[in-house]
Amino acid sequence: MTIPSRWPAVLQAVMKGQPQTLTDDHYPQWHLAPVIGLMNDPNGFIWFAGRYHLFYQWNPLGCDHRYKCWGHWSSADLVQWQHEPMALMPDEEYDRNGCYSGSAVDNQGVLTLCYTGNVKFDDGSRTAWQCLAVQNEAGGFDKLGPVLPLPEGYTGHVRDPKVWQHDGQWYMVLGAQDLQKRGKVLLYQSADLHSWQPLGEIAGHGVNDLADAGYMWECPDLFELDGTHVLICCPQGLAREPHRYRNTYPSTWMSGDFHYDDAKFEHGALHELDAGFEFYAPQTTLAADGRRILIGWMGVPDGEEVLQPTCEHGWIHQMTCPRELHFRDGKLLQTPIRELQQLREEEQNWHGNAASAPALDAGRLEFELKTDAAVKVNFADTLWLSLDEKGIRLERKSLRNDEILTRYWNGKVTSLRVLCDRSSVEIFINEGEGVMSSRYFPGHPAQIRFEGASVITLRYWLLRASMIE
Ligand code: FRU
Repeated sequence: MTIPSRWPAVLQAVMKGQPQTLTDDHYPQWHLAPVIGLMNDPNGFIWFAGRYHLFYQWNPLGCDHRYKCWGHWSSADLVQWQHEPMALMPDEEYDRNGCYSGSAVDNQGVLTLCYTGNVKFDDGSRTAWQCLAVQNEAGGFDKLGPVLPLPEGYTGHVRDPKVWQHDGQWYMVLGAQDLQKRGKVLLYQSADLHSWQPLGEIAGHGVNDLADAGYMWECPDLFELDGTHVLICCPQGLAREPHRYRNTYPSTWMSGDFHYDDAKFEHGALHELDAGFEFYAPQTTLAADGRRILIGWMGVPDGEEVLQPTCEHGWIHQMTCPRELHFRDGKLLQTPIRELQQLREEEQNWHGNAASAPALDAGRLEFELKTDAAVKVNFADTLWLSLDEKGIRLERKSLRNDEILTRYWNGKVTSLRVLCDRSSVEIFINEGEGVMSSRYFPGHPAQIRFEGASVITLRYWLLRASMIE
């Protein structure tokens, strides 16, 4: 892979895995974000040979959705990360319009990437190839080319291979759109990662009587969790409901029984995975100790993204924190991984009237809040969390005009844990039964204040920075 010499020095350095320091007040202190350009989906999340690897969709050339490469970070503990040289660039005929999302596997000790080569034609149509690349001794990746062309019966929107091994066989789920423009998840099987046999549609429109399930399903991920199977995926085109699926593109999960013998997934209803403003295209992996860990992209293409102030500093979007998944009582639970507790400074406690609580530093904070009454948390006059007996209302000023945009989580809130970085909040409700992830762009220094006459109990920590080494 040759990095064009006309590209700026900062880009050349980042491509080679050399860190850069950003001075933007909104650049995260402890979340992963691109130092230049646009980052979207997490890709190739894997624990391999003693380290975690996380790749990401990356346009290093600007803050828009063009020229998708795979960036690469690695970490020993999912907390301190380091840059690795860029893994993939769209420099072949079969991936010329983007090395789109995919996954990574350990194939007999070789770190192997499975990704989509996206190809667009002048008439507006497109095709997609599922492709492989393997790590070489220098730490870079050699492309092996396409292993699966576009299947018949689908449009050019077939992508995002998530591959795993079971009983000596490889399996792959793909997001797809059929010729009637309905979203699907396809399943394939292979003995060697090179030759793939179709096993049919396992989810989407018409499967298990699901109707009106949108026009395209992206980024599927199927895995076993606490004795059940969970399919995470991103159906585009779901009808917006008053309190659900409010984002342009939502992320969802469903659970059920997946049978390898007849490749059938009997699943229940779709549920929203995150009720905040920014959450999409999550991917999971197994941690060294068997925990199922999820990282999502804290960005949704909602038309406002071009207005985000970080674009002036040459970068846009960030990842969520890594979250541990569990399945209990029919619910998918997400909680921040315990490793993140390393970031906590001294524990502090406060009990009293909300309005007289201390103002907290919003830029690097974790807090747990308990109350029996309604309370409002004001994040730097830019984002507001209102908690009452009905649930949570999250409000944010539009970047476009003075309109206030709202997201909801409905239900009785018994516990609330909030993780804050310089331009993001992640709200974990009832030990992860609900999550609301959102970006916001406060002035600095940014403070969190509590409003209302209710008595609240706070436990909180300032968080250390864990910028990429
Ligand atoms: C999801 C997605 C994927 C695709 C990638 C391209 O955000 O649209 O379906 O592979 O982004 O960057």
